[in-house]
Amino acid sequence: MELKTGKLILRDFRFDDLPAYLLLRSDSKFQRFYSEEESGDEKSESLLRFFIEQANETPRTKFQLAICSNDQVLMGSCGIRMEGAGSYSIGCELGRRWHGSGIARQACTAIIEFGFRDLNAERIYAETISENIAAIRLCASVGLKMETERINDRFFKGRSWNTAVYSIMRNEWLE
Ligand SMILES: CC(C)(COP(=O)(O)OP(=O)(O)OC[C@H]1O[C@@H](n2cnc3c(N)ncnc32)[C@H](O)[C@@H]1OP(=O)(O)O)[C@@H](O)C(=O)NCCC(=O)NCCS
Repeated sequence: MELKTGKLILRDFRFDDLPAYLLLRSDSKFQRFYSEEESGDEKSESLLRFFIEQANETPRTKFQLAICSNDQVLMGSCGIRMEGAGSYSIGCELGRRWHGSGIARQACTAIIEFGFRDLNAERIYAETISENIAAIRLCASVGLKMETERINDRFFKGRSWNTAVYSIMRNEWLE
């Protein structure tokens, strides 16, 4: 599976992506809005294995793709997962050196288009910690609107956190 957009290639993960994937997820600022258990190398490795397993499922309902440059440098991941009939969640993570470059926006635009066009999604949503301003701005920049906020529904790093849900419906995307 491969999506091409501008100068990016979104493709399935491979086991040999592991060193680069561990490196980009190990940065402390990258981990600001992840729990301790979501931040370790063990979690990153199990995520990568999980993405590869998902790619081999039939029918396939989850697509967490590696974001790569044309020369195959791994910069992050972007994905879409079926959560219920017609309803898909998306997520994006980028190594810090590529933040602020527009790459996350380009990747999310492509994954949303894939969701509505190829997966026939009716609703696409993203969940993020409410204080993750970069993620929230990213959601807004690709057309998602705030749907709801869950108060104090996560607890990690010794405190509670709110979670915001942003979404876009097929008719809004078509417009
Ligand atoms: C979420 C993520 C992919 C966004 O990447 P990005 O779009 O390149 O991020 P940017 O650094 O450009 O930030 C996006 C916007 O938020 C703004 N922003 C970022 N941090 C901010 C802060 N602390 N305060 C105010 N504004 C902030 C940026 O100025 C930018 O604004 P603009 O769109 O008007 O230019 C990236 O931050 C990331 O990978 N984070 C770690 C993993 C993560 O948290 N993923 C989301 C899980 S839900």
